[in-house]
Amino acid sequence: MLGVCYYPEHWPEAWWVEDARRMRELGIAYVRIGEFAWSRYERSRGQFQWDWLDTAMNTLGEAGLKVVLGTPTAAPPKWLMDEHPEIAPIDEQGRPRGFGSRRHYTFSSQVYREESARIVEILSRRYGDHPALVGWQTDNEFGCHDTVRSWGAEDLKAFRDWLRGAYQSADRLNQAWGSVFWSMEVGSFDEVSLPNCTVTEPNPAALLDYWRFQSQQVAAFNRMQVDIIRRYSPGRWITHNFMGFFNEFDHWLLGESLDFAAWDSYPLGLLEGFPFAEAERGRWRTTSHPDIAPFHHDLYRGVGRGRFWVMEQQPGPVNWAPWNPAPAGGMVRLWAIEAHAHGAEVVSYFRWRQAPFAQEQMHAGLNLPSSHELSPGGREAAAAADDLMRLGDLPATVAAEVAIVYDYEAHWVAAILPHGADFRYPELVFRWYEAIRGLGLDVDFVPSGASLEGYRLVLAPSLPIVSASAEAAFAAAKGLVVFGPRSGSKTRHFSIPEELPPGSLQRLLRSRVIEVSSLRPGANIAIQGAISGNAERWRELVETSAEILAAFADNSPALVGNDNCFYLACWPDSRALRMLMELLCRKAGLSTIELPKGVRLRRRGDLTFAFNYAETSWPAPFGGEPLIGDASVAPRSFSVWRTSPAGRDR
Ligand code: GAL
Repeated sequence: MLGVCYYPEHWPEAWWVEDARRMRELGIAYVRIGEFAWSRYERSRGQFQWDWLDTAMNTLGEAGLKVVLGTPTAAPPKWLMDEHPEIAPIDEQGRPRGFGSRRHYTFSSQVYREESARIVEILSRRYGDHPALVGWQTDNEFGCHDTVRSWGAEDLKAFRDWLRGAYQSADRLNQAWGSVFWSMEVGSFDEVSLPNCTVTEPNPAALLDYWRFQSQQVAAFNRMQVDIIRRYSPGRWITHNFMGFFNEFDHWLLGESLDFAAWDSYPLGLLEGFPFAEAERGRWRTTSHPDIAPFHHDLYRGVGRGRFWVMEQQPGPVNWAPWNPAPAGGMVRLWAIEAHAHGAEVVSYFRWRQAPFAQEQMHAGLNLPSSHELSPGGREAAAAADDLMRLGDLPATVAAEVAIVYDYEAHWVAAILPHGADFRYPELVFRWYEAIRGLGLDVDFVPSGASLEGYRLVLAPSLPIVSASAEAAFAAAKGLVVFGPRSGSKTRHFSIPEELPPGSLQRLLRSRVIEVSSLRPGANIAIQGAISGNAERWRELVETSAEILAAFADNSPALVGNDNCFYLACWPDSRALRMLMELLCRKAGLSTIELPKGVRLRRRGDLTFAFNYAETSWPAPFGGEPLIGDASVAPRSFSVWRTSPAGRDR
């Protein structure tokens, strides 16, 4: 199904009926509105103007569109900021971040919590049972523009309360953080300061707790809205639109209060922001890398416990990356079908019409600015609507046979003490995902501690902090489990475990790490054995009583295995990683197919989709005529076959 993001307040009211009609004509079923409209319906405190929103909701509903209403808290209006300047976030250098764009609030502002609760209640009482309304989006992209963490008085007060709850006494806090180091001990929680503006690096345990605290503040802010909406808008679902490559709060935690997850898919913008080498980025500049969107579809399907939407889909050039090319012809259509192949229920374009004014005037929409004429992306969205019509009701998504453990704290630990300038957790996970997807397999993402039942292969590219529930889940896993570097290397309070890394995983891995080295670019170390290639960025010195499957050039273990558990003691280059995945798949009895770099497969029930990001056709090795597309998958296009169902029930 397709949807679109629409801002009736940006256009003359006389256009709304025609806009709604043309949305239906294009094949759009859902329309998201309202997430930045606070100043339009509450011009000053208590002075409400609902006529326009009533009319917009009714107009859309009468055209047969289903409305998703956003709560407006991502953009508090000027009168509110003037009344309560303490709502504004403070940046890490201690400077207030002012009014004039959006997201100008800190999650720790008590006043803002109350104001948000007030407006969400008013909105959900007014529209909660509107016949056109099917669901809600809370706020908009929590954390966008570096707004998860704020460093002001409001934050400090809330952080001290959080620490009191977590540690009860200052002594326990000092002990947990190792505050004796550099004379950092405090006599009471009121002496705790924020870990910013320090002379050199702050205590990593303090920083990790601060990040955890801020992450929980985001989840609590969301839950506050969810609780209110559930009270006044029964029968309607609630979601939030998460972002790509964004790791500053724990999405698993926040996702618990939602009915499903949504994310905003900007494949070309995300390509520009991810640390690819220039040549690689150049290669994919108008298609995006073929694993960027799928990675997030799979991640957010996990966060949504099997259900997700793309709430915002790139329709043409965006405005916010360093370079903003137009997508290659065919990609806007391909991205929409690809999202569905990964289980998306709806793909909703951002936005209906390009705005000729304000910050995002260079951002494409489905229609040209100020007109009723489809843009190039709009024409491709129409083609995607036809494809979806031809495919009809899509079969249910089944669980994959491969799972990747994705852990937000793993990112925080590596970001706080990288030890090597290029040890970046999201990049490591992305490369593991790319390698396994390059073998034609489907992947689920799971949080650390989740049941691993039914998976034949579980990948934990790096998991520094292993909770008791995670350890139990790994021990209970029937499939193969492979851990990457730095797994089990820290306690919950950011110390080296007494028994040395991999901490409690030693029981499963019969190995311990006695030294680690980060490797500057080019200082690679050869690996030989069951896998070969190079360690780059990072390697470890391991002592083991498990089997040594591959070793570094100096003969120390690079890959060790024990029953169904394996440990990789380095950051592998692409060759070693590919060989590792092949080895594991063979051991797990998973059948693979070696795909060219630009081609990816995905199954949904009895449908098999092949997506071709490359410039040349891919002769698919499947028999039978595709339902859509050619047996040789055309460049920047896709084909769909009906095959026997893949995956498994869970
Ligand atoms: C998203 C955001 C939208 C819009 C869009 C432009 O991050 O949710 O409001 O700014 O980007 O690409």
